[in-house]
Parts: sequence; structure tokens; C-alpha cells
Amino acid sequence: MEAARVEEVVADFVTLKRRGVNLIGLCPFHNERTPSFNVNPARNIFKCFGCGKGGDSVTFLREHENMSYVEALRWLANKYNIELEEVEQTPEQLAEIQLAESLYIVNEFGLQHFQHQLFETDEGKSVALSYFKNRGLREETIRTFGLGYAPDQRDLLLVSARANGHDPELLKKVGLCSQDGSRDFFRARVMFTIHNLSGKVAAFAGRTMSSDKKIPKYINSPETEIYVKNKILYGAHQAKRAIRQQDECILVEGYMDVIALYQEGIQNVVASSGTSLTEGQLQLIKRNTNNLKILYDGDSAGIKAALRGLDLALEQNLNVKICLLPDGHDPDSYVQEFSGEELTQYIEANSKDFILLKTELLLEETKNDPAKRTGLIKDIVASIAKIPDPIKRSVYLRECSALLEVPEDILVSETNKLINTNLRKSEEKAARRPEAASDSPPSFQGTEWPTELPPMSSDTELPPEQQWPEHIEQRPVAGHIEAFQEKDIIRMLVLYGDKMLEQEQVTVAQYILADIEESLDSFDNPLYGRIAAECRDMIVNGQTFDQHHFIQHDSSDVCELAINLIATPWEFSPNWEEMWSYPLQNQKMPELNFDLDMKQALLRFKLHKVMKMCEMNLNRVKKASQDGDDAEMMRYMKIQQKLNETRNEIAARVGTVVLPK
Ligand code: UTP
Ligand code: MN
Repeated sequence: MEAARVEEVVADFVTLKRRGVNLIGLCPFHNERTPSFNVNPARNIFKCFGCGKGGDSVTFLREHENMSYVEALRWLANKYNIELEEVEQTPEQLAEIQLAESLYIVNEFGLQHFQHQLFETDEGKSVALSYFKNRGLREETIRTFGLGYAPDQRDLLLVSARANGHDPELLKKVGLCSQDGSRDFFRARVMFTIHNLSGKVAAFAGRTMSSDKKIPKYINSPETEIYVKNKILYGAHQAKRAIRQQDECILVEGYMDVIALYQEGIQNVVASSGTSLTEGQLQLIKRNTNNLKILYDGDSAGIKAALRGLDLALEQNLNVKICLLPDGHDPDSYVQEFSGEELTQYIEANSKDFILLKTELLLEETKNDPAKRTGLIKDIVASIAKIPDPIKRSVYLRECSALLEVPEDILVSETNKLINTNLRKSEEKAARRPEAASDSPPSFQGTEWPTELPPMSSDTELPPEQQWPEHIEQRPVAGHIEAFQEKDIIRMLVLYGDKMLEQEQVTVAQYILADIEESLDSFDNPLYGRIAAECRDMIVNGQTFDQHHFIQHDSSDVCELAINLIATPWEFSPNWEEMWSYPLQNQKMPELNFDLDMKQALLRFKLHKVMKMCEMNLNRVKKASQDGDDAEMMRYMKIQQKLNETRNEIAARVGTVVLPK
């Protein structure tokens, strides 16, 4: 990673100009006229201030060239003449990879065969090519999507595959022939190729050209090691660049819809192939954008079931909009009858927010049945409670209150009840997680923890109506607590985790994690908590890690956070040099100061935690006093005293004065 200079790698694809210590250029990930794409050689990262994309040279190759992680490393090794030492695989792993590779090879042969039949034979041209052309497809589109033709013959593909040395067992395995190995599986059908994200042939679908209702319209390859249905979105390979550029993914139902829209210039389109969205598919989308727009037939029978399934998308914090087409149209027929532009305009004018649409549809349905209204309200509230972002939630609550003609505070308290229930469930789940073993908990920098302290879960139950909106600032609702003391700890781990502390002769990460080990499971922000726990696990396992580990993390939220943390020091003022007319190099770099920086961050973190505990315990004192339980009250008062001492001691070291309550 040190050899891979980000400025050199990026310069292979983007024209860069020097601006002070950085290089700038036009961002290749979104359309822009004035450059906001920055490359920072000192930190060896790039970051676009327009669209937010950022990372190191590996990230760049993965995003820009659609390479896999391993492909990117090979590319870099080749560029810098570094010999790659590849880890030896177990025989099972090797066999698995070889099997997958050979399945792809057979499928690739299948594609060539179907394309040959379509383009090079008289029957193909007159039957299938004309079918596609009648449906409005141009030859270029037909090739882009790997469309083909399987004639009505018993074993045309089988014979040709054997002649080309392909193993009949593999043909069976990918479903190109019948299980007894005597007949082709796809016959008398036009063929659709299903690619995986990187463009390899994962499977096929064949559509009959007959309108006989007894013949199944589509038949599909079976699931195999390389075709896991709920993890593949049709068209994702062709669409992914457009999805990123437009920061939106349009979801349609059918193969033809994807292809027709793509041809008409709407290229950020994928299809779920007739099923409702799965979590695996949502994650595919989420890797590229947070905005999902669903384009369905207005008369689609499954629409309400689909709507219900979409709560999954809300949980992932996707913004979901829905656009229903006029009765009798699917996206394909709409662009054929009108045009891509007209469809774009229609979508613009008719997209509705998912929750509001769901409310409207259900309202319509329960118009004359007041008894059903209660169920409806619960249904809507359940969807809203899934949204992690409190601000978004409150906007929905206001709008739905108007639509449903139910007072807002009732909806608010219903939502809070559900959030609390969900929260309790996830807390219970977390509590069942095995505790990290530790023989000697590190001393709390000389201050003792009060040993009697009850668990830190929030058992201070307020009536629900009082929990809004205060509780959104205190409660760990998934993902959206901006706990800056925690963030600071994570910043140190990501930026300097592998740096050696001269005095202590341990790494920054070892120091931090030993110091706050007992708080690792009580981070308010789940993302920060996850990163801290992962760092601990790596250290326990004797693994080392640096920035690169987080920038290339499997979870996109970790990558995003890492790159923002790393980019921050130069994000403060992009115009720094113009304003002050001296280069940043003369500034004292924060990385020279990480020792002090880290120790301060740790103190602030502890102070924050201890103050929270003070507050929580104070509520216990109050409650005991209200209940008239004197013994209990005395016990909590003692704890309070201990906590206050601890708090004051840490505060003195941070240099902050804490006012007594
Ligand atoms: P549709 O029946 O809407 O087909 O099914 P379509 O895509 O519009 O096809 P054309 O326009 O009639 O040629 C939507 C999707 O459901 C899946 C396919 O993925 C299809 O694209 N499907 C449908 C099947 O898998 N099998 C079927 O028998 C029917
Ligand atoms: Mn159709």
C-alpha cells in the first residue's frame, strides 16, 4: 500500500492538476464542471468534496474500474513490479474456486452458443432476432445484455458442448441440460443472460415466444454455487455505474423492463425478477446508493405485499420512493409507447414517498371500516419505527398524523413504545453475547470503579409521552447517535492504531482498548461500538491493523466513516492556502501529536461515560425516594458519592469544571 501512490494510480484515469500540496481534477464518479475531486499524496487518499466518494488506491480501482479487491491488488502489484505472494488455499477452498470457475466457463460457452444461434443462423435471425427487434430492441442493446436464442431442437447445445470438450456433468450442474444428460434444458425460447455484479455469466432465463398459457413464460437456471437468487439483481452489472453517478437505483419487475429502460437512456435500473426484495439484494443496492425508487405497474397484484416487504429497506435507512405506472402499463410498454424522456417526466411527477403512499393506499381500503383503522395505524407506525433517523421519523409522524386524522402525540407515543420494545429486544440480544474474557481488568487510571453499580441499561421508565423528543438524544437508536467522545476514540484507533507509544512500548490501539475495556460493550453509537469491538478482537488474536483495514472494510458504513475521519484534517478549509497564503506543510501535523491527543480523548470518553452513569444513578435515587424505600436510597446515594468523586477526578485531569447538580 505504501508503494501504491494514490496520485499515480488516479492519474492513470483522471487528469490531475497540482493545487498546493494536493492534486485536483474533475470527479470521475459524478458529473461536474468545476473540479472538487482531491488527491492527497501525503495521506495517500483521494476524496471528492462534491459527491463524497473517497478512499485509497484500492478503493479507486474497485469503484472506477469495477475491480474486485483481489483484482485491484494484482493490478497494483503489476504496475509497481511487486511480486504477489498468494496464500496457499486448503484443498477444499481450491476445489470450490475451481468448481465455480468451471461453472462460469460452461455458462460462457452457453452464452456464445445462444448468441451464435441468434445472430448467425437463418432460423435465429428470422425467429428470435426479429422478435427482439419487434419489441423495439436495437442490436447494440441485444449484445450489451447478452440476449440469445435456443432453437427447438433436442440436444443442439449438448452436442456442440461435447464437441468442444466440455464436461457433461458440468452442463447438468448449471442446468443447461436435463438431469439425465440427454436433452437441452432451454428449447424454443429467446434467452436472457443473468450476469453477476462483475459481469460473469451466473445463469440464464428463457422466454417462450408462444402465447400459449399452458407453457411457462419464463424458465430459469437452477440455483448453483454461482447463482444464489436472493443475492443477484438482474441488470446490476450494467447499471452500477449509472446508479453511483445518479445516486439512485430504480427497481422494476422484469427483464424486459430493465433492458428497454437502459436502451432509452435510463440506465440505473435493476430487476428483482418477480420476487420481493431480499436482504441480500438490498445490501447490493446499499453498496451503491441510499436512494431506491420502485417502478411498478399500477395494477400489480402484489403491490401491498411488496409494500410490506419494504420495511426491510427502511431498516437499512434507504430512502424509498414508489412510482405506480398507469393501469395496464409496465415500464417496458410505457417507453415503447411513449419515450424514455416521457417516462422520466412521469416518474418525476408521480413518485411518492413509500410511507405516505402506504398510508394512502391503506386508508382507501379501510375507508368504510373504522374497526380496521386501528390495525392500519399500527401498521404505519411499525414502518415508521423502523427508520433509524429520528429527524426523518418526526417528519413522517407529522405528515401521517394529518393524513390519518390522528393527533400527532398519539402517533409519537405509539412509535416510542415500539422503538423501546425493539431496543429492549436488541439489548437482550447484545447481553447474550459472550463477554470478552479478561483476567485483570486494567485499573481505571488509579480511580476505582464503584463495585456495586447496577447494570448500565436504561431502566428509568418514563411514561411514553414524555419520551419525545428528549429520548432521541439519549437513547441508542440504531446508528444515529452522534457521540463525539466515542467518535474521537474511533478516530484514534483508525488513524493511529498501529503507531507505537514511545514511553509505554505498546501500540495506540493496545493502549486504548486496555484502558476502556469495560466500556467496550456500552458504546451509545452502534457503529462505533462495532469498530471498537472488532479492534479488540483483532488485538486479542494478535492481529495488527492500520488505516487500510478500515478503508477496505466489508461494511460500507465502516469504509465511509474511515475515509471521513482520515480526510477530516484537510477537509476543514479547502481554501486554506489561498486564505493564509502558506502551505499546510508548515503546520504542525496532528499525527506528530497523537500521544497527547489520544490520552485527552480517553479522558473525555471516560468523563462522558461517568457523567451518564451519574445521571442514571441519580434517577434511581429519586425513584427509591419516591417509593419510600430508604435502604435502597441509601445504597444508591453511596454509589452516587463514589461516582461524583470519580467524575471530579477525571474532570480535573481533562481540565473541565463540572458543576454539581
Ligand atoms: P412479467 O410477466 O411482468 O414479464 O414478469 P415481463 O418481464 O414483463 O416480460 P414480457 O414483457 O412479457 O416479455 C416479471 C418478471 O417475473 C419473472 C421474470 O423475471 C419476469 O421478468 N417471471 C415471470 C418468471 O421468472 N417466470 C414467469 O413465468 C413469469
Ligand atoms: Mn413486460
